[in-house]
Amino acid sequence: MKPVRIRTLESTDAEALLTFELDNREWFERHIDARDAAFYSTRGVTEHITAYLSDYAAGTWHPFVIEDAGRKIVGRANLKGIDTAERSAEVGYRIAQNACGQGLATQAVKHLIQEARLRWNLKQLVANVYAANIGSAKVLARCGFLIEHPSGQEGTAQEYRFGLSI
Ligand SMILES: CC(C)(COP(=O)(O)OP(=O)(O)OC[C@H]1O[C@@H](n2cnc3c(N)ncnc32)[C@H](O)[C@@H]1OP(=O)(O)O)[C@@H](O)C(=O)NCCC(=O)NCCS
Repeated sequence: MKPVRIRTLESTDAEALLTFELDNREWFERHIDARDAAFYSTRGVTEHITAYLSDYAAGTWHPFVIEDAGRKIVGRANLKGIDTAERSAEVGYRIAQNACGQGLATQAVKHLIQEARLRWNLKQLVANVYAANIGSAKVLARCGFLIEHPSGQEGTAQEYRFGLSI
């Protein structure tokens, strides 16, 4: 596996993040909910980063990017909806199509677990995965998450909820 760096999202990441999201838009939309069309512009991504960093400052979200050795963004990972009273959060992640299959998502989820424990003092993580997303379910299982229950209304794709006590 080539070395990568996982770091907190920064306000200067707009152009690099837009490139990453545009290059992989079709790939992501095959596995996860599509973003609003307005997101795919310098302005859209700048507003997105501002919102994420504001939530980070408020202690409710921790956004990370994964960079390769050339400092190109090849993935993202987030602790979402951090609840310091419940000591819980949700994990989310996405890896560039051409960087998949090298263990990056596994590395990212392990990093999220470590940050959740050491930095945020959390005790429970959850993840929601569409049933067809076998690769994502495999990553979670490998990181110790256990399947909780399937959900989804009639006519919508079935989702699985995973949980991890830390
Ligand atoms: C799911 C995703 C995050 C996995 O990223 P990744 O860096 O390739 O993950 P890893 O390499 O750590 O592990 C993936 C594992 O799933 C396996 N896998 C992937 N797709 C698979 C499939 N369709 N069927 C069976 N196994 C599959 C891989 O072979 C690998 O297992 P291995 O290491 O034993 O070979 C990536 O495909 C992605 O970003 N998808 C789009 C966004 C997304 O789905 N995000 C998650 C939302 S819950």
